[in-house]
Amino acid sequence: MAMTGVIRPGHISLRVLDLEEGINFYKNTLGLVETGRDSQGRVYFKAWDERDHNSVLIREAAEAGVDFFAFKVADKATLEKLDRDLKAYGLTTERIPAGEMLETGERVRFKLPSGHFIELYAEKTDVGNGQPYVNPAPWTKEAENGIAPSRMDHCLLYGPDIEKVQEIFEKVLGFFLVEHVVMEDGKTDLAIWLSCSIKAHDIAFVRHPEPGKLHHVAFKLDSWERVLRAADLMSMNKISIDIGPTRHGITRGTTIYAFDPSGNRFETFCGGYDSYPDYKPVKWTWDEVGAGIFYHDRKLNERFLTVVS
Ligand SMILES: [Fe+2]
Repeated sequence: MAMTGVIRPGHISLRVLDLEEGINFYKNTLGLVETGRDSQGRVYFKAWDERDHNSVLIREAAEAGVDFFAFKVADKATLEKLDRDLKAYGLTTERIPAGEMLETGERVRFKLPSGHFIELYAEKTDVGNGQPYVNPAPWTKEAENGIAPSRMDHCLLYGPDIEKVQEIFEKVLGFFLVEHVVMEDGKTDLAIWLSCSIKAHDIAFVRHPEPGKLHHVAFKLDSWERVLRAADLMSMNKISIDIGPTRHGITRGTTIYAFDPSGNRFETFCGGYDSYPDYKPVKWTWDEVGAGIFYHDRKLNERFLTVVS
């Protein structure tokens, strides 16, 4: 499949309650690589195998949560086109100049009906993964530091109006629906999983009355063995685990959900099947939603449904 338009998730900006505590968690427990600090007090990280300068930003604030989630697009012409398309759809967009985020080009920001800020950008400095582009080794020292995911993978956001959100992602940004959960009425979607690639999801939404909430940001691990190792490291570091290790019915990924020290939920995720735009979306019915979310327990815990940041 030729990758055009929106290519992949690019970065997430998170609010943490204590910056030093946040830096220690994201650097030493999760095992991201710190790549910079800016004059606004934001600290930048990337996963060891990511090549662009940053994928996770944290800043200190009175409340935890997400400031914005961004996607990288193919090139500057695509960025211009998508800005025009978003406006033609009826959304207001804002241009954030190159350099406002370290080593990152101009960004186009817009607000979804769910209350979340989404950004698109075309350029970010390639700092590499610690290996040369000629004759590289398969992994680096950073790949063994803490949980050490290979990339920031996706996020799940909670907010209202997910039908409109789905329309914007499908009609304007070129995503496709991979899976969805319908409510008791058999018609209305409770949750949607959307992809811009061959991943089972690049972003997902759950219907929720309060706008702009983060359910989790997910980080990719390359094997079930690494998921178990992540659980060990969470326990060694007294990280609050929500659930897991277990498997999702939806996407089939293996998973652990846990909380950063500020209460932002994160996921260490492995697997998930390949998906393509011509695939028919998979539907989960209300009576099987427990197995859809947690395939082994086959029931949802109250915390998973209601605790967001
Ligand atoms: Fe997830």
